[in-house]
Amino acid sequence: SESNDLLVEGKSYKTDSWTNVPSTILSAVPRRLHQQDSHPIAITRKLIESRFPSYQHHNDFFPVVTVGQNFDSLGFPMDHPGRSRTDTYYVNKDHVLQTHTSAHQADVFRANTSPGFTISADVYRRDAIDRSHYPIFHQMEGAMTWDRNAVPEGKTLAQQIWEDVENLPKHNLVVEDPNPPTHAERNPLQKDHSQEEAEAMAVHLKRSLENVVVEIFSKAKEAAAAAAAAEPEGAPLEEQAPLQVRWIEAYFPFTSPSWELEIFWQGDWLEVLGCGIVQQSILNNADVPSRVGWAFGIGLERIAMLLYEIPDIRLFWSQDPRFLSQFDQKLIRRYVPFSKYPAAPRDVAFWLPKAAAEDSKTVTGTAAGTSSTPSPAGGHPSAEGANAEFATLAFHENDIMEIVRNTAGDLVEDVTLVDEFVHPKTGRKSLCYRINYRSLERTLSREETNDLHEKIRAELVEKFGVQLR
Ligand code: PHE
Repeated sequence: SESNDLLVEGKSYKTDSWTNVPSTILSAVPRRLHQQDSHPIAITRKLIESRFPSYQHHNDFFPVVTVGQNFDSLGFPMDHPGRSRTDTYYVNKDHVLQTHTSAHQADVFRANTSPGFTISADVYRRDAIDRSHYPIFHQMEGAMTWDRNAVPEGKTLAQQIWEDVENLPKHNLVVEDPNPPTHAERNPLQKDHSQEEAEAMAVHLKRSLENVVVEIFSKAKEAAAAAAAAEPEGAPLEEQAPLQVRWIEAYFPFTSPSWELEIFWQGDWLEVLGCGIVQQSILNNADVPSRVGWAFGIGLERIAMLLYEIPDIRLFWSQDPRFLSQFDQKLIRRYVPFSKYPAAPRDVAFWLPKAAAEDSKTVTGTAAGTSSTPSPAGGHPSAEGANAEFATLAFHENDIMEIVRNTAGDLVEDVTLVDEFVHPKTGRKSLCYRINYRSLERTLSREETNDLHEKIRAELVEKFGVQLR
């Protein structure tokens, strides 16, 4: 019988016109990879937590949150693209699958049970399909606050924070940090903080996170050595490039000033986390107006991929013992691919329906991929993001991605726009996507691949009225 309720782990939610959570996503909600003891996501979480020994660690928040928790409490403007149904899974108009662990910040500040805390959880975003994006991933939030009213007599708050900086472990990593601590336009000081307070908090924040990076990379080095030692022929250990990291300026609605940390990895600067000084309004609204502090959000998959050299984000969801049995809480060893099965690319080309074709921006994207949420921490697209205007339109690149996922699940490695064409006479727009089929666990037969591809083609016609070419 028809039911208008959506059940998420026994909790019931009324559906409405906002509901857009597919059953493939719902069925993965109970997996909670960050809580599975020997899973690489959980091991990575514990490794980072170990750098924050005095903090309280929260690991079991429920992934359905209110729009208030996920967006309003954090000061997201109403027209922020992160709120759109093309980017976010809505359970109904008032509830979403959390898009980031920041959704719980205000609640934990309000509970005020520990000055430092972390929150690790599964987070959900509609996004592109490739080896580093998956619609469910895991983040760790961290925050530290100081109480202005609890500073000992004869000391200023800034002095207290500098003292705490002195007590952090030191490292000898060279870090590029070319920007001033605050910048009037790009990265402003909040009116509630003195320049010195903000600077002291920024140094405390950055040092704490640099210590995380140093720990991860020392473990990664050990992991590579352990893997090499395990090889029967005693494979030579590859020369490790020196670790290069840098701080860049960033923007989040809930911190100011804000930064991102990037790591130079295999030829590219990779963003691994976002952070900043907590907007005082959040602490005030959480009934702790005398507290000031910082917060960060780090993407656990990206860190685990660096740590273990895991080449494809889908692997984290694998139940294959050839994957899972490689991870051990006691010894971090580099992942050894058990096999690479052949890829089977198939193209699908189609004319967009008239309404969508009229707005050339309805479907964005270049062959290089232009997901609106490219960041791994991962940052919500900025308010200036090109997606804001698509929110109410019928057809978005993420919709294609969802059809592919719902039909082929984890059997697709990536989907890329390979051609885009506007007919000179009719003005109609044609797109061609390449879907790269590849199982992580076996060789797909030609028949099975063709079957999946046919289903996806049919779905595109049925759901979006495209005309196949
Ligand atoms: N929540 C942010 C994101 O998902 C990361 C972040 C957390 C930034 C805390 C600043 C402070 O991108």
